[in-house]
Amino acid sequence: MGKSSKDKRDLYYRKAKEEGWRARSAFKLLQLNDQFQLFKGVRRVVDLCAAPGSWSQVLSRELFEKNQYTANDEIPPKIVAVDLQPMAPIDGVTTLQADITHPKTLSKILEIFGGEPADFVCSDGAPDVTGLHDLDEYIQAQLILAALQLTTCLLRPGGTFVAKIFRGRDIDLMYSQLGYLFEKVICAKPRSSRGTSLEAFIVCLGYKPSSHWKPTLDPNVSTEDFFKGANIGRYELKDDLTYEEEKRNVAPFIACGDLSSYDSDATYTIESNVDRISLDPVQSPTAPPYKKAIEKKRNGEIKR
Ligand SMILES: C[S@@+](CC[C@H](N)C(=O)[O-])C[C@H]1O[C@@H](n2cnc3c(N)ncnc32)[C@H](O)[C@@H]1O
Repeated sequence: MGKSSKDKRDLYYRKAKEEGWRARSAFKLLQLNDQFQLFKGVRRVVDLCAAPGSWSQVLSRELFEKNQYTANDEIPPKIVAVDLQPMAPIDGVTTLQADITHPKTLSKILEIFGGEPADFVCSDGAPDVTGLHDLDEYIQAQLILAALQLTTCLLRPGGTFVAKIFRGRDIDLMYSQLGYLFEKVICAKPRSSRGTSLEAFIVCLGYKPSSHWKPTLDPNVSTEDFFKGANIGRYELKDDLTYEEEKRNVAPFIACGDLSSYDSDATYTIESNVDRISLDPVQSPTAPPYKKAIEKKRNGEIKR
């Protein structure tokens, strides 16, 4: 979250700083939770693609403070946050600097959970955008699939999976595939997610894997082969090379968060006659790309 420009007039950005969230995305998870009560009875949680950590902050607050965990509870909450970037520590959260597409990440998470499955997995993953629209959409879809694969190896039956999606052309296929794995799949758009963006969140409730299917992550196995046995419907290719599309599966769409509250697309004017202080970022970047450049400049490795 920058300190200048349009950000200043975005109410969620300002509120995040005032309330101590590392990013405005915290409000997305809070508003999803208001709608779906995601954390009821939840003890083991995985936050994929978690840096800088505002979702992990929400999880820590909800599981340790709001769910009124006491030291006498049989199972204390466990939250694991995974990201390619290093993350500054958060109370009650174990951070892993790792790639969610790598099988080793799964074993590390399971080790932290003592081999027990997770109750809740969320992913707010977004790759670095290249600006090439089709490529960006493809990489984002692959990241969601990687999160889903990891989730199928981690989540207990009945558990919940929430992930960021972009409602692009092929999203119906994802809804229909998720429909085979979960009791209910909903496309939710929190008030704090900009209406002008294709971003939304799939809320998948009631994990119900086929009883014969034992998902195993292996870098040499394609995504298609990974889901073989999961009983996920596929396009049938016919002899004349046409294919029969599955019936279109449209997930119910729910707008969530207080709809009369701040509009994330609006620009709110800052009153100039009021004394105002500019708050510093809640958490400075741990490994910003400019750090290396500054070092190089200092060492004379970069010339004007
Ligand atoms: C929008 S940010 C997440 C914000 C976070 N939910 C929060 O509330 O602070 C997206 C994150 O996805 C991470 N990411 C992208 N690809 C990843 C991968 N393959 N493995 C782990 N993290 C990844 C990026 O490093 C980035 O920090």
